[in-house]
Amino acid sequence: MSTVKNTGSTVKNTVIGWAQDAEGIVTLTIDDPGQATNTMTDEMAVALRAAVERLEAEKESVTGVVVTSGKDTFFAGGDLNRLMTAGPDDVDDISAGLDHFKESFRRLETLGRPVVAAVNGTALGGGLEVALAAHHRIALDKKGSLLGLPEVTLGVLPGAGGVTRTVRMLGIVPAVLNVVGQGQRMKPAKALKVGIVDEVVATEQEMLDRARDWIRENPDAAQPWDRKGYKIPGGTPSSAALAAQLPAVPANVRKQLKGAPMPAPIAVLSTAVEGAQVDVDTAFAIETRYCANLICGQISANMIKALFFDLNAVNKGASRPADIPVRKAEKVAVLGAGMMGAAIAYVTAQAGVDVVLRDVTTEAAERGKDYSRRLLDGALAKGRIDEAKHAAVLDRIHATGDIADVAGADFVIEAVFEDVELKKKVLAEVAAVAADDALLASNTSALPIAEMAGAVSRPGDVIGLHFFSPVDKMPLLEIVVGENTSDEALARAVDFARQIRKTPIVVKDAYGFYANRVIAKFVDEALSLVAEGMHPASAEQATLQAGFPAGALTLFDEINMKTIAKIRQGFIADAAERGVEFVTSPSYPLVDRMLGEFDRPGRLEGRGFYEYEGPGGARLGLWPKLAAEYHRPEVEIPFEDAKERMLVAAALEAYRCYDEGVVRTVAEANIGSIMGIGYPAWTGGALQYINQYAGETAGFVARADELRARYGDRFLVPDGLRALAAEGRLVV
Ligand code: NAI
Repeated sequence: MSTVKNTGSTVKNTVIGWAQDAEGIVTLTIDDPGQATNTMTDEMAVALRAAVERLEAEKESVTGVVVTSGKDTFFAGGDLNRLMTAGPDDVDDISAGLDHFKESFRRLETLGRPVVAAVNGTALGGGLEVALAAHHRIALDKKGSLLGLPEVTLGVLPGAGGVTRTVRMLGIVPAVLNVVGQGQRMKPAKALKVGIVDEVVATEQEMLDRARDWIRENPDAAQPWDRKGYKIPGGTPSSAALAAQLPAVPANVRKQLKGAPMPAPIAVLSTAVEGAQVDVDTAFAIETRYCANLICGQISANMIKALFFDLNAVNKGASRPADIPVRKAEKVAVLGAGMMGAAIAYVTAQAGVDVVLRDVTTEAAERGKDYSRRLLDGALAKGRIDEAKHAAVLDRIHATGDIADVAGADFVIEAVFEDVELKKKVLAEVAAVAADDALLASNTSALPIAEMAGAVSRPGDVIGLHFFSPVDKMPLLEIVVGENTSDEALARAVDFARQIRKTPIVVKDAYGFYANRVIAKFVDEALSLVAEGMHPASAEQATLQAGFPAGALTLFDEINMKTIAKIRQGFIADAAERGVEFVTSPSYPLVDRMLGEFDRPGRLEGRGFYEYEGPGGARLGLWPKLAAEYHRPEVEIPFEDAKERMLVAAALEAYRCYDEGVVRTVAEANIGSIMGIGYPAWTGGALQYINQYAGETAGFVARADELRARYGDRFLVPDGLRALAAEGRLVV
């Protein structure tokens, strides 16, 4: 961020409009002509400073200030491209940029005239920080409008006064827990409850009228912290009242991180606590220092790339053929009302699309529909939906045992048992009844799409839609393109994913698709640690400290070792078919023993690596015999190796998938790994992990070579990656 020069108020301000009424109230309308939304660009910094200087210069004629926006949203926040590319050499520049905004905000709030933010739409991050510099915030209750300071979710913190002001408005504990620590995005009503806005109104006119009224009623407005005798609500860290409560905050952060190497939540906490013990200007300086360090670090770059740029690219359909018009599904037939079919019907109906849910009998189909009933009942009880919505979603699902009810469906998804002959039969049967050009999708987890396509007369319309369980929670959808699948079918599948608000990645019709290949390497590596003698509790801890959302042994039990062993057999057969060597893992004999000798397949049976309260019941402790049998204290596996083995093994597999065309873009590989298997967000995804490794691709390759020498051929570096590293290039 370059240091912004002051251009003074003589230049016409094209970014922030100025309108003064007869009473002297000035309305500043932020409306950057160069951008779809207002963000914190250099031009914005200059414009804001110019507006503030004009207010100061013309103060005698100004009775108050309304800050609003000329866009549909209020203000979107930081310039993420710039934040992502900032490196360690940019700390001074970034700090100067933050301080420039801060100074403008500070001059606005100390102008000596009442300032009201008329928040006419979404105000996130820097956008909300603009509003926090006002003395009073009125939010318009607009559909889709969100308020909050979500910086921490991208590995940074609100550095334009957001932490300092929320701490002083709300107190340390509420500010960290409800606003800055987890970056919650709130609807206006919630924002009012939490206290980051003061009023919520229904119309734009009301918002502007109320803003003027408030100015008239509060001619002496000032920020609470600029008034004599001000004390931070709830006290400062040195006060006894807060001392009792404060430990809950780091405890909460620890729970949130589970040991993952993410510096932002800790920096937020430090900013809040340290800033509360000093005057407001020193607090701002502390905030800038922490924020600039985060912005210029690698982890925020990884997170911004993955969770903003890659995710946007994927959600827009990174691999959707561009020249095919958007076509939405109108009547979806779901065949098979088991665990998957029932949940697919639910998310489809939720998206406002009519569903025919078909099973072998109407009773079986109704049992599938019960899944939706249960979820909707729960949402109703919690007040998240009303009766009308409950009824509307359920009415969209027509449960039936009669295939004739599928007539006219333009989009078919089969989710019957995982049996290729059955699936072929079902697809042929439905193709005869559904619309002539209905898309024919299979939710297979492993069967070849091309083979199923052979069962119908129009194989171009057959495609795979690999959902993840539980479907209503897991955001990822793998779209599997078979040999014959047409571009139009692919485009329609991507359009459907967007319709039901899933994130689609396009994958090749090859065994394991993408996510299962990558997850298999991660869990096998975690379990290898145990097989080699590491204490199971330490292996679980290493998984969490690498940043995975759950321990690997926990995951084994959830997925069930029978499934895992079956998938392994699939990989072995696939390798044989392709004539490539299958590299074995120390984890395999342990899984086999768990299934055979120990008979502990997983949580479903109530016994796995963990003990449970019963079949499918609550998890108790680790099964003691596991450590008794395998733990060898004399074996020393450095903890750093333990963590990196999982990350590196999965990243190597992601690279192989990319190299083989199993995934088509780096963005899809990164997002698929984060959303499909819980690859840690701090890495930016499995391919970004390679690029961001210290020393970039060469550094990663050297580390993989080291791990291979110590632990085996699972860390063999593919030739293509070695070549990139030799040339100093990234995986792009
Ligand atoms: P499930 O066993 O719970 O359900 C299958 C349903 O299909 C049963 O209700 C059965 O009555 C019905 N069915 C059988 N023949 C039928 C026919 N001719 N017409 C209509 N319905 C018929 O199985 P689940 O777990 O829902 O799996 C379904 C598919 O989804 C399988 O291909 C599976 O591999 C795949 N899948 C499963 C995932 C999982 O986590 N369970 C994840 C992703 C895909």
